[in-house]
Amino acid sequence: MPTPAPHSTADSVIRFYYRGEIHAVDQAAPTRTILQHLREDLHCTGSKEGCAEGDCGACTVVIGEQTADGVTLKSVNSCIQFLPTLDGKALYTVEDLKQNNGALHPVQQAMVECHGSQCGFCTPGFVMSLWDLYLKNDGSQAPACSAAGASACQPLQRKDIDIALSGNLCRCTGYRPIIDAAHRMGELPAVGFDRQALQQALQPLQRDDMFVYRHDGQTFYAPRTLAQLVAVRAANPGARILAGSTDVGLWVTKQMRDLGDIIYLGQVSELNAVASRDGQLEIGAGVTLNDAYAEICKHYPELSEMWQRFASLPIRNAGTLGGNVANGSPIGDSPPWLIALGAQVVLRGPAGQRAMPLEALYLDYMKKDMQADEFVEAVRIPLPHAGLRFRTYKLAKRFDQDISAVCAAFSITLAGDTISDIRIAYGGMAATPKRATLTEAALRGQVWSESVLENAVALMTDDYKPLSDMRASSEYRMKTSQNLLRRFWLETRIDAPLRSDQVNPFVCA
Ligand SMILES: Cc1cc2nc3c(=O)[nH]c(=O)nc-3n(C[C@H](O)[C@H](O)[C@H](O)COP(=O)(O)OP(=O)(O)OC[C@H]3O[C@@H](n4cnc5c(N)ncnc54)[C@H](O)[C@@H]3O)c2cc1C
Ligand code: FES
Ligand code: FES
Repeated sequence: MPTPAPHSTADSVIRFYYRGEIHAVDQAAPTRTILQHLREDLHCTGSKEGCAEGDCGACTVVIGEQTADGVTLKSVNSCIQFLPTLDGKALYTVEDLKQNNGALHPVQQAMVECHGSQCGFCTPGFVMSLWDLYLKNDGSQAPACSAAGASACQPLQRKDIDIALSGNLCRCTGYRPIIDAAHRMGELPAVGFDRQALQQALQPLQRDDMFVYRHDGQTFYAPRTLAQLVAVRAANPGARILAGSTDVGLWVTKQMRDLGDIIYLGQVSELNAVASRDGQLEIGAGVTLNDAYAEICKHYPELSEMWQRFASLPIRNAGTLGGNVANGSPIGDSPPWLIALGAQVVLRGPAGQRAMPLEALYLDYMKKDMQADEFVEAVRIPLPHAGLRFRTYKLAKRFDQDISAVCAAFSITLAGDTISDIRIAYGGMAATPKRATLTEAALRGQVWSESVLENAVALMTDDYKPLSDMRASSEYRMKTSQNLLRRFWLETRIDAPLRSDQVNPFVCA
């Protein structure tokens, strides 16, 4: 039997703000999803289940949460989010958009006017993704535009619409009418959102101490401080750590796995911090992928395409950089570029903190140098230095929302025309994210020239023996990996401009 953690308050009622009141749940399994609760318990069937794995967006809802600066509202996939993670937050579904006078919200009205729906199955998800985008641009964030009757302020860029809809699939309408609706919603009389009222509604739901929810022999812990997390982890080394649930959620909905006890990181304030010190950017393990990439892109605009191509916006709104690193999948998109930049992973346990180069964390397929009572606390990324040339490339069958067949990352430091340092890492080429040490050795200390490059490219077959699977054959992986190194050379050769002026101008707002 696990020892009860210190500071725990056995509350066992999940409370969240829903439809203007506090909603309490005490009879649901900790892994019951928000979508199951909506559809099967509350019979609120607007949100649909298409895939139950975060891919199609039919289940998209918006979650409101209190932050140090007020409230945030973000789209997420309700099919892979567990109900107790809603504790202290607000839930909005497609049923909540209608105005008090019964009129459609501009998002819905625009979808009608632009013929953005046919069978309608995907429509609630599209509407919620568009509402999330609308909230980012409406009067509630730009007071000058909030007067009733005024049209929404800033015309949307196509790029913003594409990002907002990156997690929604439609099999009937085609996307053009929906994109038209995204433009049209801003031309209709604006409907503001009262963030202050939401903040007030959320206030009584905030807890001072750890939330402990028990149901049918399973316990869900949501510590609020690092000290509580260390203690609860030490007392329950067999419990499953849950961050954004974008990997773990699928273990339940697709693999029907029993997770046992769960330790949720989403309320640990220290893990949500980003700090720049001693020439490094430190990203707490609880920082969402979207927020983490936004911060990192300020220093490395070369990552802007990866930011946009990592899953979809609702997945990036929920998933964390810490989860991507801790999961340790050989096809995760962040480890290759983190390794190429020389990032360190910071682990914490009862014995304190220890840091190591990220590549040292990965011992074998899904096997890590992390003790049962430890967790990932943060990732430290060195800030750019003089002479650095850096790129990362993702090869996948779709632009958005697809897992990499190969993911490559290169960083090179030149002293004149000579390579003083080089780090090459690939995902999809081995059982772990892995450096190309032989290829690197053939380049280090050499002139960054085409003949040297070609000698090194040939060594890559000694560094990697990739597998064939449903995403790509072994031959494809090897050939494209070699070609990506050639592409890196073409983009960073000695006569090329040094850094960000050549970078693909995707996002990084
Ligand atoms: C539709 C979809 C698309 C996706 N696309 C991509 C993609 O393009 N690229 C990509 O790389 N990944 C992708 N993923 C995978 C996933 O989004 C990422 O791996 C994500 O970063 C996981 O983070 P999380 O916070 O959701 O982790 P969780 O699912 O909560 O946890 C993942 C694992 O890490 C452990 N864990 C989490 N945090 C910690 C911690 N701090 N300390 C110790 N252990 C911890 C958990 O116990 C679990 O084993 C996709 C997933 C989905 C569902
Ligand atoms: S049902 Fe497909 S993303 Fe949730
Ligand atoms: S309208 Fe049918 S799936 Fe989109």
